[in-house]
Amino acid sequence: MAFPQTRMRRLRATAGLRGLVRETDLRPGQLVLPLFVAEPGSALASSAREPIATMPEVDRLSLTAAVEEAQAAAALGVGGVLLFGIPAEKDESGSGAWDDEGIVQLATRAIKQAVPGLLVLTDVCLCEYTTHGHCGVLRGDGGVDNDATLELLARTAVSHARAGADLVAPSDMMDGRVAAIRSELDGEGFAEIPILAYSAKFASAFYGPFREAADSAPASGDRRGYQMDPANGEEAVREALLDAGEGADMVMVKPALAYGDLIRAVKRATRLPVAAYNVSGEYAMVKAAAAAGYLDERATVLEILTSLRRAGADTIISYHAKDAARWLAEQT
Ligand code: PBG
Repeated sequence: MAFPQTRMRRLRATAGLRGLVRETDLRPGQLVLPLFVAEPGSALASSAREPIATMPEVDRLSLTAAVEEAQAAAALGVGGVLLFGIPAEKDESGSGAWDDEGIVQLATRAIKQAVPGLLVLTDVCLCEYTTHGHCGVLRGDGGVDNDATLELLARTAVSHARAGADLVAPSDMMDGRVAAIRSELDGEGFAEIPILAYSAKFASAFYGPFREAADSAPASGDRRGYQMDPANGEEAVREALLDAGEGADMVMVKPALAYGDLIRAVKRATRLPVAAYNVSGEYAMVKAAAAAGYLDERATVLEILTSLRRAGADTIISYHAKDAARWLAEQT
C-alpha cells in the first residue's frame, strides 16, 4: 500500500508513539569510560588532575583522582572504565606494562576496592611504556617483531588479571595475540577473565588527541605496519573472525564514527558482542564544534552514541560516557 493509505508520519506524531516504535535503546550500562592514570613522577603527573589540551574536560588522573572518577562514573550507572597508564619511566621493551606495581595494576586494585560493582577493563599494549612509542618490541631494522611481542603482551594481561581486571583488551594489533593471551591467562588460573580484542583497529588520524594524552606517539615512523588500512572492510571482518577463532569473547571496531558499516559487518560475521570505540578525535571534534557554538553538544552526543548502537555495537567506549549517562537519566 502506498500513499495516501500509507502515511509514515502517523507513528511520528507524538513522543508516546515515537517511544513505542523506537528500534534502538541506549543505556548507561552499555557505556565504558576511558581513564588516563598517571604514575607519580611521570612527566604528566604534577597534580591530581591535569587537563589534556586536545580533549576538553578529560584529565590525566592521579591514582586518587582516578578512583574518584570511577566512583562518579559508577554513580551515573556507567558500565565500566577502561584504564590507560602513563608510567614514570619507559624502556626499550615496555617493561612497565607488566610490572605488578605498575600504574594500571595499582589503579585496577584501587578502583576494584573502592567500587567493586564497576567493571575495570584494561588496555593491553606496550606503546605507552616503550621509549620508541611502538606497540611491540623493535627489530634491528626498526620494524615491530610480532612473535617476540606476544609473550610480553600475555605477561601484561596476566598482570592486569592478577590486579583484579574484569576484562583485558589487547590493542596492539599483533597477529596471534589473542591466542597467546588466552593460553597464558588460562595457565595462570584466569580462565574466567574475558578478552575484548581490538580486532579491527585502523591506522587512524582520529587517535591524535589520545597520543598527546597518553604520551604514546611513535618516536619515528607510524603504525601502518600493524594497524589496518582504513580502506579495508573485508579485512576487518577477517581480523574479527580470526580473533574469534583464537578465543576472543568480544571484538572491537575502532574508530567508530566513520566505521559504522564495519560494526554491522563484524557483528553479522562473528555473532559476538561488539564494542565500538568512539575515539579521542571523534570526541575532540564534537567538543570543539560545541565550544564554537556550531553544534548542540547534548543532542549531537546522544545521536552519535545511538547511531553506534543502531550500527550493531553492544558496548560503546566513549569519553562522553559520564555526560551521556547524566543526559539519559534526565530524559526519563
Ligand atoms: C594503543 C591505543 C591507542 C588508542 C587506544 N589504545 C592509540 C594508538 O593506537 O595509537 C587510541 C584511543 C583514542 O584515540 O581514543 N595503546
